[in-house]
Amino acid sequence: MRESASVPPSREREWRVTPARTRSSKQLAVAALVLVALATVACGNQDLPQNALDPQGPDARTLDKLWDLTFPFAVGVFFLVQGLVVFIIWRFRARSDDDAPVQVHGNAKAELGWTIAPALLLAVIGVFTVVTVFDINRRAEGSEVLQVKVSGHMWWWEFEYENFDIITANELHIPADQPVQLEVTSVDVIHSFWPPKLAGKVDAVPGRTNYMKLQADRPGVYAGQCAEFCGLSHANMRLTVVAHAPEDFRTWIRDQQREAAPAAQGSEAAAGAELFVMKGCTGCHTISGVEGANGRIGPDLTHLYSRSKFAGAVFELTDKNLRKWLRDPPAMKPMVPDNGQGMPNLGLTEEEITSLIAYMETLK
Ligand code: CUA
Repeated sequence: MRESASVPPSREREWRVTPARTRSSKQLAVAALVLVALATVACGNQDLPQNALDPQGPDARTLDKLWDLTFPFAVGVFFLVQGLVVFIIWRFRARSDDDAPVQVHGNAKAELGWTIAPALLLAVIGVFTVVTVFDINRRAEGSEVLQVKVSGHMWWWEFEYENFDIITANELHIPADQPVQLEVTSVDVIHSFWPPKLAGKVDAVPGRTNYMKLQADRPGVYAGQCAEFCGLSHANMRLTVVAHAPEDFRTWIRDQQREAAPAAQGSEAAAGAELFVMKGCTGCHTISGVEGANGRIGPDLTHLYSRSKFAGAVFELTDKNLRKWLRDPPAMKPMVPDNGQGMPNLGLTEEEITSLIAYMETLK
């Protein structure tokens, strides 16, 4: 191009102006700072509730091992490639207006090298990945395996323990140190069930059943969330896994199997129970033991107050939060009730809300 008359000399000088160089060195400095900041944050606090690098169960550990194996390769490749880029930019930079680089075409050695080396590397990583995939997809078998059906809803989770005739929401209770086999599906759009410390992710797809095995080493509370964008409140679709000691799990099962006790006559709770039917709550929510209360659109409320959170495990279950919720649910959590996605504002009065909360509190 240099001897070509079609490019006016002034144009050619234009893209060589020095300020661009100062700007790029500034950008480089900023990028380096961001990188250092990220690295510092990543290494700092290990006590993060959804840290997949802190596995607390066999499958999560298997996945973590795969990470341990591939991450050093990734870091090596990153620094090798970026190092070469920086080196080449520096080594072959333009020093004057007439030092055009020597033009070459093809280099069999280099091309073979950068084809074969990555292929070998990917083959090694691929073998370990496939082994891991088969390993975590093996179903848990045996009489001690707990089976739970998981259904994603916009925007909460339903857990059904068919063998025990229990349905609950947002809090998955399991016995610690015992295999659990989940059958995961969805009633509306695609969600993804993800309890990072206990297992990987599995998509919840309508009309299809996917499987995940789950096991917690010891009793505890493990956080998780929906990991597939599923609409307006995707970010508010969390979950909790509660792992119990065996005796505690048996107690939990027994408690959940009880029907809701009728509220004492003339009490505030009884007024709430009446409102629950009158306002049409029964069309969306189940309360076992209450006639007509068998809706499956919203969470089963039979044992609502045995849970510590509500509305997709987003809010602490306190009277204050529940009051705020009943005043106007979509104001507290973005939802589209007109599309059947989430709970509508029922236009309840403060007195009605007080009665309903009194009733909910009896549902333990
Ligand atoms: Cu459900 Cu994202």
